[in-house]
Amino acid sequence: MPNKIKEEIERLKNERGAIILAHSYQPGVIQDIADYVGDSLELSRIAARESAELVIFCGVRFMAETAKLLSPESTVVLAAPDADCSLAACMSGADLREMKKKYPEATSVMYVNSTIDLKAETWACCTSANSIEVVEAAPSDEVIFGPDRNLGTWVAANTDKKIHIWPGGCHAHSGADIRDLREKKAEWPDAEVLVHPESPSVFLWEADKVLGTGGMIRHIEQSTSSRFIIGTEEGMIYRLETLFPDKQFVAAGKILCPDMALTTLELVLKALESNDSGIEIPAELAERAGAAVRRMTEIGR
Ligand code: 13P
Repeated sequence: MPNKIKEEIERLKNERGAIILAHSYQPGVIQDIADYVGDSLELSRIAARESAELVIFCGVRFMAETAKLLSPESTVVLAAPDADCSLAACMSGADLREMKKKYPEATSVMYVNSTIDLKAETWACCTSANSIEVVEAAPSDEVIFGPDRNLGTWVAANTDKKIHIWPGGCHAHSGADIRDLREKKAEWPDAEVLVHPESPSVFLWEADKVLGTGGMIRHIEQSTSSRFIIGTEEGMIYRLETLFPDKQFVAAGKILCPDMALTTLELVLKALESNDSGIEIPAELAERAGAAVRRMTEIGR
């Protein structure tokens, strides 16, 4: 049965001039049928570059929205329409407006894992890969950073600027238990520890490298180590094992995103079969949020 679905997905994809994009946290079966697998920013850039008529996005809502902002001509359909992001839900545009009143001298930098409404209020977005560079590029010595407190704490430790942090967090990463990481380190003392900056701060201070998912791949590519302990969503282990079959990977803890797990082959097929008009963003919001996202793509990686 899965093979039949895969054949039908392939046929419809060609017929409709579609591309399938999957985030590295997606279930293995989805990564396998995708045209491109990548981090959230890479996927948005691919959507913009390919200018396909139809983009089937396998990930969570803010990622599909970012792809739409960067490629407004394409129809971008989120394969699992209920796949939201607990982190993006932590902060709204109104929250940022309140913080701006409190810190009128500060520029705001918001992690791309955020709602359109929040993006529209911010000077720039950033990814886990370029957060420090974007903060350094902000035209003030004070910065409001949100919605992720762990990434914000990491940025604050790596800049001389004063950072006002919104206390949001990814509920999957936030629940990671440091005792699991220490156990893995004891089992694999030779392994490099790579941790996503959404993980609890104590994980970041125990890591060899703090990297986004794309950064992890680029680091492993040039590393001479053969074993790695990975502190991020567990879908990433499948991605790394596929890319680097000669290296070994283990998860640093139980980090499972229920929203990422919602995508199925059946939903991808349904998205290809339907005439869904996809992600729609009111023009005024798209203009302001798009400017913040474009600034992010212009600064660093
Ligand atoms: P990346 O930007 O590394 O793809 O991470 C996205 C994400 O949602 C992490 O939880």
